[in-house]
Amino acid sequence: MPLFNLLKKIREKSLKQTLFYLLYYIVAIRLPYGDRWMFIGRWSHQFRTFVCRRLFHKTGKVFGIGKGVDFHMHGNLITMGECANIGNHAWIRGNGRLILGDHIMMGEFPLIYTQDHKVDGIGYDGTYSKDVVIGSHVWIGGRVTILKGVTIGDNSIVGAGSVVTKDVPENAIVAGNPAKVIKIRAEVSESAADLH
Ligand SMILES: CC(C)(COP(=O)(O)OP(=O)(O)OC[C@H]1O[C@@H](n2cnc3c(N)ncnc32)[C@H](O)[C@@H]1OP(=O)(O)O)[C@@H](O)C(=O)NCCC(=O)NCCS
Repeated sequence: MPLFNLLKKIREKSLKQTLFYLLYYIVAIRLPYGDRWMFIGRWSHQFRTFVCRRLFHKTGKVFGIGKGVDFHMHGNLITMGECANIGNHAWIRGNGRLILGDHIMMGEFPLIYTQDHKVDGIGYDGTYSKDVVIGSHVWIGGRVTILKGVTIGDNSIVGAGSVVTKDVPENAIVAGNPAKVIKIRAEVSESAADLH
């Protein structure tokens, strides 16, 4: 985040929040991620979650934030469920809330926009926000884009590189741009068939 933007946003925060944002954007965001870094990876993870717990609206006991995740100093708009993860280099933008359920896995470079510029009239002045909600047991592939107002149903999968413009049903596998249902998860359809 450019220094000017950082300083502008800092003016709107309390002293405690400011200290944690500085800790996050100067140190935590750069620390490595993953087991191959052994104790350094574990320590980084613990430090990042320690800081984010103090910036986010609500978190589970255990959750994960990847390296390079930028939430534009809007941590107060993020809710993380139990064992929810935000992928490495995620870019989260907008004034809407981002609400994650439990047990969420996310690939690298997800883009989550909880806000749009107004589309009527000339140019792009004015914005409006809508919350993004991701259910539990969801797998988001790499380089997925999720747009404002979308709800992703429990136990669904979003294929790599998809652009999610509309709600995703529970248990669905969606892919493409715009993301469409390509399958219903096998175990779910099989176990549903067993019931008949
Ligand atoms: C979505 C996904 C799980 C589906 O896997 P699958 O069930 O084995 O799906 P298939 O390979 O049988 O593909 C089914 C159809 O969907 C299409 N498809 C699959 N993934 C797609 C994607 N990401 N984008 C667009 N189309 C996709 C396939 O081309 C195929 O189309 P066809 O029926 O016209 O041939 C997988 O393709 C994927 O995107 N995984 C994400 C990987 C990733 O990002 N990992 C990051 C680490 S968390």
